Amino acid sequence: MASSLTAAYPWTTSPLISCAPMRLIANASLAAAVSMAGGLGFIGAGSDISTLSSELSKSREIFSKSNFTTSKSGILPVGVGFLLWGAPLKDTLAILSKPENIPAAVWLFAPRDQTQLRDWADGVRKATANKTKIWIQVTSVREALDAVKIAKPDVLVVQGTDAGGHGAAQGAGIVSLVPETIDAVTEHCKTASTTLPFFVATGGISDGRGVAAAICLGAQGVCLGTRYLAATEATIAPGYQDAVLRASDGGTTTIRSSVYDQLRGTTEWPAGYGGRGVLNASFRDHESGVSFEDNKKLYEEAVASGDKGWEGDRARLTTYAGTGVGLVKGVEPAEAITRKVQSDAAKILNETRARL
Ligand SMILES: Cc1cc2nc3c(=O)[nH]c(=O)nc-3n(C[C@H](O)[C@H](O)[C@H](O)COP(=O)(O)O)c2cc1C
Repeated sequence: MASSLTAAYPWTTSPLISCAPMRLIANASLAAAVSMAGGLGFIGAGSDISTLSSELSKSREIFSKSNFTTSKSGILPVGVGFLLWGAPLKDTLAILSKPENIPAAVWLFAPRDQTQLRDWADGVRKATANKTKIWIQVTSVREALDAVKIAKPDVLVVQGTDAGGHGAAQGAGIVSLVPETIDAVTEHCKTASTTLPFFVATGGISDGRGVAAAICLGAQGVCLGTRYLAATEATIAPGYQDAVLRASDGGTTTIRSSVYDQLRGTTEWPAGYGGRGVLNASFRDHESGVSFEDNKKLYEEAVASGDKGWEGDRARLTTYAGTGVGLVKGVEPAEAITRKVQSDAAKILNETRARL
């Protein structure tokens, strides 16, 4: 691995801003736009690789039509994220090993058991002749140590409980989680004489202030999900995007729960995960004792009503978003988001000393 996180991805600017591999939402156009703005965009393959080849091909097309160049030859300057409980390893490797498809990074999350992390990390490294870096998203100090021992990731993505979408049902925010994880992993790597991974913080970071804070906690880069829900290039229903823009005070207006998965039928997640989304009528009805059958019926009616299902006090459609949702104020191109968040963070980090 390179001497710094950004050195491994020479088109990127420090501190590294990455876009989360949000399943169905972060496709080629969003991932490529983030990378072309000096960040690292991830395509969210999730548990289903049926569109992976076409998304990789679309990203190649976007890069070839732009002026974007990178000195790093032989890799596509985007990453791909997988949910290990569902994604098929063998078929994925067959796609990623094609010379034109080799991504800059793969992002592994939510294994059924820890051995999957080793199988995926070894498999990807072999299939891409070590060109693709291994990022593993973890939600606790314990998971971080296990991941480092079993798969030796190049990058550990440390996900705090403020994160939008799926994460540990019980967890800590990045202010405590990131430094404790760094200390524990550093100690382990010293004792075991193994290479220390880079650390990327994620969960609740929506602007340059959050990025600067994460860097002060010891992370070398950050990952933003919720903020990119309001990117022009996000593949997202207008009703969902409007609900993100309307939400504020995310600590009280979002909740991590398994109710949204149950209603949507996405129940294959391993135990211990929940999805954070804007608190809505589906959740309130569940809490107040409405039966699952009745709640599901109301949910299906909301699905049939389209974007209206995200409107008003009785909104029922799932709005996965993190506690940083209140900092997301408008829809902008991913390039503008990436450059602003990056330059604001750099400015804050430069000026902070003078403020003390
Ligand atoms: C709508 C949405 C979908 C997500 N989908 C995935 C996914 O498919 N795979 C994954 O590893 N993480 C996924 N995440 C979680 C992100 O990887 C990341 O941890 C989170 O977005 C960080 O917190 P933030 O949303 O506050 O920026 C998703 C997050 C959101 C908001």
